[in-house]
Amino acid sequence: MTDLMQDATPAARLARLIARQAEKRHLAAIWAEAAGLAPAMVVLDIGAGTGALALEYARIVGPDGWVIALDPDALCLHHASAEADRRGLRLRTITGSIESLPALPAAPDRVMLTDALHHMDDPGAGLRAIRAAMPEHATLFIAEYDPAAPGAVGAPPAKRLPRACVRAMLADAGFAVTRDADAPDEHYIILAHAT
Ligand SMILES: C[S@@+](CC[C@H](N)C(=O)[O-])C[C@H]1O[C@@H](n2cnc3c(N)ncnc32)[C@H](O)[C@@H]1O
Repeated sequence: MTDLMQDATPAARLARLIARQAEKRHLAAIWAEAAGLAPAMVVLDIGAGTGALALEYARIVGPDGWVIALDPDALCLHHASAEADRRGLRLRTITGSIESLPALPAAPDRVMLTDALHHMDDPGAGLRAIRAAMPEHATLFIAEYDPAAPGAVGAPPAKRLPRACVRAMLADAGFAVTRDADAPDEHYIILAHAT
């Protein structure tokens, strides 16, 4: 059965996305450690979806930090926001795409871009927009499914972005890569700074 056939209503679609993204919640701690998330930081989570990972980041940055969750999907963000309120976490949401990012409420220390780049219509334009929004001190953290992995979990291999391609797009957008490593569940991670 295709996703569209499953999603008879917006509520059914949201429930499916909540369940799917909850399966990846364990990755939040791994991504947070690799990106160096710490209390009181401001974290921009691009393509936050239902907030399964953003809410974990909000727990780490705590009462003196903020997570800004960006996604074009208003229904998913509404769910993330309600969960943050319920758990007493500091999460702000912005409905929109990275290519048309409005002014942020606070300058981010970390920009998280996990399993979102391969969803973008123009990933190169997305990275250029992120570069324009990033302060000099900030770190960009990318996690993507590796097309060289078997495809037992996650995005279909044909939809995955090769790391060499992501590295080339980062260089074009004005980033220098500081770390590139294999990661769990068929991922690779890349950390980068603005040049
Ligand atoms: C698979 S979900 C990733 C959710 C979460 N970041 C994770 O690691 O599991 C991809 C998300 O990227 C969002 N997205 C797609 N294009 C985008 C864009 N141009 N700007 C911001 N978010 C985008 C989608 O709406 C979707 O919620």
